[in-house]
Amino acid sequence: MQILTLASQKGGSGKTTLAASLAVAAYESGERVVVVDLDPQRSLTSWGMLRSAGGIVFRTIAPADLDHWVTSTRRTPVVTLCIVDTPGTFGPEVDVALRHANCALVPVRASVLDLWASAPTARRIAAMGRILGFVVNAASPVSYARTNDVIATLGENGLVGPVISERVAHRDAMATGLGVTELDPAGKAAAEIRELWAWTKQRMPTEQVSV
Ligand SMILES: Nc1ncnc2c1ncn2[C@@H]1O[C@H](COP(=O)(O)OP(=O)(O)O)[C@@H](O)[C@H]1O
Ligand SMILES: [Mg+2]
Repeated sequence: MQILTLASQKGGSGKTTLAASLAVAAYESGERVVVVDLDPQRSLTSWGMLRSAGGIVFRTIAPADLDHWVTSTRRTPVVTLCIVDTPGTFGPEVDVALRHANCALVPVRASVLDLWASAPTARRIAAMGRILGFVVNAASPVSYARTNDVIATLGENGLVGPVISERVAHRDAMATGLGVTELDPAGKAAAEIRELWAWTKQRMPTEQVSV
């Protein structure tokens, strides 16, 4: 089982939105997916409760139980991918999710405030020795200058994945319990999410990380 953790010390950067649509895109690509919601706000769990489509298993796990859950789930071949959504305030519960992660994705909006806020997140992940990928999220689909500036700066501190544009499909998908690839399979948001999932999968180590 590979573990992908969405993390950033900035609320509203898109952790939950990307966790949801990445989970669906991964499932569609053949992964057997479990989604774990560590955020007390339970946004991802609420999205899951709206879902009538199958495929993804949801687990609400107390951070203190994550070690035990990961150890026992790793023993079963039933789950191939676990996506963990985390709160925007770092604490022991985020650390435990990062310790187990094969890869951590950090969504960053294309603004200088978000860029600054991403630095401590990146340092923390790097200090834990985890593979770090930044994702510029909710980027303007028509004007690339700011996005390109942010990518250049982020690139000095880690890998930068495919850009996810600001699109209403993401809001509609969250409101209807779908991933963007289910909401509009031929849409641009779907294409971007599939590209992000393929990029992430390619970079995630397959071997178990030592915690
Ligand atoms: N790519 C996107 N396009 C449009 N809206 C987005 C996008 N990403 C996130 N949002 C919206 O931004 C808000 C914050 O996103 P959310 O996933 O809750 O962030 P976080 O989990 O990091 O706090 C939500 O209203 C969400 O619908
Ligand atoms: Mg969230």
